[in-house]
Amino acid sequence: MILNTELEYKGNLFPSKIIKYEKNLNVLSFTTANGVVLEVTVRRDSILRFRFTTTGIFENDFSYAITKYASRGYNHLEVTEDDKNYIITTSKLICNISKLDLRTSIFDAKDKTLICEDELGFHWEESYEHGGDVVKMSKTAQAGESYFGLGDKPVDNNLKGKRFENWVTDSYAYGRDTDPIYKAIPFYTALHNKKSYGIFFDNTFRSFFDFCSERRNITSFWAHGGEMNYYFIYGPDMSDVVVNYTDLTGKPHEMPALWTLGYHQCKWSYYPESNVKEITSKFRELEIPCDAIYLDIDYMEGFRCFTWSKEYFPDPKRMVKELADDGFKTIVIIDPGIKIDMDYSVFKEGLDKDYFCKRADGPYMKGKVWPGECYFPDFTNPEVREWWSNLFKELVEDIGVKGVWNDMNEPAVMDVPGKTFPNDVRHDYDGNQCSHRKAHNIYGMQMARATYQGLKKFSYPKRPFVITRAAYSGTQRYTSSWTGDNIATWDHLTIANLQAQRMCMSGFSFIGSDIGGFAEQPNGELYARWIQLGIFHPFCRTHSSGDHGDQEPWAFGKTITDVVRKFIEIRYQLLPYLYTAFWRYAEDGVPILKSLVLYDQEDTQTHYRNDEFIFGEKILACPVTGPNQKGRRMYIPRGQWYNYWTDEVVIGGQEVWVDADLDSMPIFVKEGAIIPKYPIQQYVGEKTINELLLDVYYAEGKEESMVYEDATDGYDYIKGRYSLRNFKLSGKKKELIIQQHKSGKFVTTYKTFKLNLHGLPFKISKVEVDNVEIPLKDLKLKGDDTLVLTKEFNELHIIG
Ligand code: GLC
Repeated sequence: MILNTELEYKGNLFPSKIIKYEKNLNVLSFTTANGVVLEVTVRRDSILRFRFTTTGIFENDFSYAITKYASRGYNHLEVTEDDKNYIITTSKLICNISKLDLRTSIFDAKDKTLICEDELGFHWEESYEHGGDVVKMSKTAQAGESYFGLGDKPVDNNLKGKRFENWVTDSYAYGRDTDPIYKAIPFYTALHNKKSYGIFFDNTFRSFFDFCSERRNITSFWAHGGEMNYYFIYGPDMSDVVVNYTDLTGKPHEMPALWTLGYHQCKWSYYPESNVKEITSKFRELEIPCDAIYLDIDYMEGFRCFTWSKEYFPDPKRMVKELADDGFKTIVIIDPGIKIDMDYSVFKEGLDKDYFCKRADGPYMKGKVWPGECYFPDFTNPEVREWWSNLFKELVEDIGVKGVWNDMNEPAVMDVPGKTFPNDVRHDYDGNQCSHRKAHNIYGMQMARATYQGLKKFSYPKRPFVITRAAYSGTQRYTSSWTGDNIATWDHLTIANLQAQRMCMSGFSFIGSDIGGFAEQPNGELYARWIQLGIFHPFCRTHSSGDHGDQEPWAFGKTITDVVRKFIEIRYQLLPYLYTAFWRYAEDGVPILKSLVLYDQEDTQTHYRNDEFIFGEKILACPVTGPNQKGRRMYIPRGQWYNYWTDEVVIGGQEVWVDADLDSMPIFVKEGAIIPKYPIQQYVGEKTINELLLDVYYAEGKEESMVYEDATDGYDYIKGRYSLRNFKLSGKKKELIIQQHKSGKFVTTYKTFKLNLHGLPFKISKVEVDNVEIPLKDLKLKGDDTLVLTKEFNELHIIG
């Protein structure tokens, strides 16, 4: 749309000079001679919102993305003016607004460097067909500027030189560079001169981003309707930009139950009941940990949501209970399309209550999905969401289903152009009635939200678990997600890695891919390599279309089964570490996976890295992404790292070769880290945790680590019944000191820590716990580097 801007100024309209300025607390408005109003809201010292209207009248200010829990408030706000500009100053930013044409430039308040400046700035084209405007913004790219983020785009981390579209789309068997796909997250971070900022364009219409693709030095974004409404978020650390974006659009409303971070097994479809049992029994027989089993659409009666096939699942309640007794949580799929069938109660009720979407001139929105012709609930109506949430009573409360998987919620419609609703479909949009042009990108989000409300209600006092395919910014508050219908190829293993990193960088950390690939079938090697990556993804599930063969951990022969088991076991050992990372995410918005650029933006080497990522705070992982490899080259970020397998120390800031036969993969631990581990369990809760293993990686210097624990489910943690341990490690030539600070009222079942000391450069001669020397034999020193001591210690000195 912004194409050929240099040649085609004719359609574009621009603001003229400012004739009026008003300040209402933190909201500043600037009116131009030609009736454009720019409203700048200072949300925080580092967050400014820019909102434009071309008619002088703003729409009702409503957003599905922005959470009411977002932090607000600033330390300093001052507005001054000179000949050319109005100047907004906060403690972090200086923003100049040109009196001539509303163009803005933003500077770092401390060192006055330019962060971001408008090129043409805001401009628009009137839309004769739909009314309103096509709204546009262009900014000058700074020297060496790079761009990251944008949700699930299946491309390399750095977005520079590319153009993207945001329009949630069912994309069976998408590939590298397919755009758009399932999610619309119109948020990016930019980085230049070691400083990072972000832009969140909160506009749900079809939108576009161009990162120096059309013109080398210009970044632009625009949408087919709505307002030019964007948030500028300053770092200068990219990690702060991401944290602040996540604060704005919301963190998960609660911690996930710990079991949801276990391994999940899925296929389209496991049925009948005997097949489901066969699969779950095999996991237990082969001792491959697994917490969740999925039922895809075939569990229903003719694909009617909220029904069960009597033939395949005659007694779901009994089955779900039997599975639960064996440690398996049952998760079922629920799609938005409701089959047109007067004998089907959900359809009948939806019709009677007038809950289905309608076309502009009155007929219902009819579309074909799995059950045949369907109508679709208007999830943008709060009353419909409430109704939908109550439909889960039987599934969750009576039958005992523990999680719901929302699919096809783009919404996907078969055999029609565009694979979705036509533009004229009407939506309530929470009282801001509109067409599908505006509601399309948030339809799936609102479905997942309604499902979440149901799960939350009926799972209580346990925590809800939802998975969604479609998403818009903010969806992370309600649900986890997966990357949709990928393919069993090596390139898709790389794509899954990129998508998970990118989603984490876009505020949405509870993400994973269909391990092994959905379409087609992986060979054993690809499956094993994918599992190795998958255990580092917050959501860890094998799923396949089932058309091409089996995709269970044992489907590829014993060698592969053993590799898969080994890695799933690592996942289970690392559960307290991952849970802590999740807590950091749910509490503070810190992404669970960190691309290297997010981890160390000052090292320019990281700006173009794709494969390596940090899992949590301290573990560096890098998948092997091709066949027949005995290892790979990878970049080790700055600092010193222990090879997870050999304890060999590698100095970062360089590319190195790392051995990784099929039963291994490159994994490193940051020196000074303390990594908590649980014993291997076949499912969460199988064992009482009698001892917490702490892998301590010696460093000369200081490092902090945390361990968060709670009852693993339920809401007691919100009332303070959690256990947070903060460890401060400080290593000297002949001494290692660990201080522990404990908070929270949750009492863990274990009484002792077992410390495994890695890389200790001296032989232990003395150990002091809280200033008291403990005879070495009492610490059950097994070998030199293992000791067992009370979990209650405050300060531990290990002396050489
Ligand atoms: C869609 C989903 C896939 C699911 C299938 C059948 O293709 O993306 O995960 O298995 O529908 O429900």
